[in-house]
Amino acid sequence: MKAKIEALLNEVAAFATDSKEELEQYRLKYLSKKGIIPSLFGEFKNVAPEFRKEMGQALNNLKNAAQTKFNEIQSHIEENTTDDTDNGDLSLPIDFEKLGSRHPLSIVRNQIIDIFSRIGFTVSEGPEIEDDFHNFTALNFPQEHPARDMQDTFFIEKNPDIALRTHTSSVQVRVMENSKPPIRTISPGRVFRNEAISARAHCIFHQVEGLYVDKDVSFADLKQTLLYFARELFGEHTKIRLRPSYFPFTEPSAEMDISCNICGGKGCNICKYTGWVEILGCGMVDPNVLDNCGINSKEYTGFAFGMGIERITMLKYQIDDIRLFFENNKRFLKQFDAAL
Ligand code: PHE
Repeated sequence: MKAKIEALLNEVAAFATDSKEELEQYRLKYLSKKGIIPSLFGEFKNVAPEFRKEMGQALNNLKNAAQTKFNEIQSHIEENTTDDTDNGDLSLPIDFEKLGSRHPLSIVRNQIIDIFSRIGFTVSEGPEIEDDFHNFTALNFPQEHPARDMQDTFFIEKNPDIALRTHTSSVQVRVMENSKPPIRTISPGRVFRNEAISARAHCIFHQVEGLYVDKDVSFADLKQTLLYFARELFGEHTKIRLRPSYFPFTEPSAEMDISCNICGGKGCNICKYTGWVEILGCGMVDPNVLDNCGINSKEYTGFAFGMGIERITMLKYQIDDIRLFFENNKRFLKQFDAAL
């Protein structure tokens, strides 16, 4: 029996093939139930007790060698087999790398621009680092007037005449200085206020402000423009209401609420059970502002409005923490893919 096992070991070691059929022959011959190796195990009971240990080891050895050989050849054959029928459809376009999604603030800013451009508003931009005149003085904030405290400002330490703009009304001053009415423009952009960061406020945020100056522009024009805007952005059933307010650069001034887009005005925790949410400030441009910017206030009137893009985006998508916009968390940003 010993000699038989040794002969078989040599046969197994010498066996080689690339063919599946030959490998199957090998398996049947040596390893299958009726194969040589299992039948040797059957003969084991006839081995004299004093040789059993040695024979047992030799048999197991042979079995392992034969099985290992089989496994090696089998995986080698699988690796080298290319199945001609499994190439898929070669005429399909390649799988493009997935591109990043647009930031929710960009999505909403673009929607706002689109809505106003449909009624003739152009887009204007200006510097984020502003001088006192364009951010405050031209807009009718008197020197040392407490109204300047309405917006906590980041001033440049070495030159208190220079500050990070607190609103994009500064851009509208520049437009009025450099062009003649009729003026119809919106100014989207980043603004800065020295505020403690919380779920509801950030020291950096974005605005879209709008300005319309022409002969005979009235408060009714303002109201109708804002109603159109609210319905385009939040849906055709949206209602608006204007509450009296104060801004140095508009007179009269108002704040605009829309009927809550979450509960439809019935009352929920987003609108604090009032049915209304505030989205922007607006008013008729103060004649002093027109004059400061070289526009004759006897001849022209205008309206202006301004809104925070973060606030509107939070309302639109029910986002409850403004800090999420600035964290670059992929799981947050990915959700807006479909919103494009
Ligand atoms: N500039 C104001 C702000 O930043 C918004 C505003 C613009 C209000 C125009 C009225 C008219 O809060």
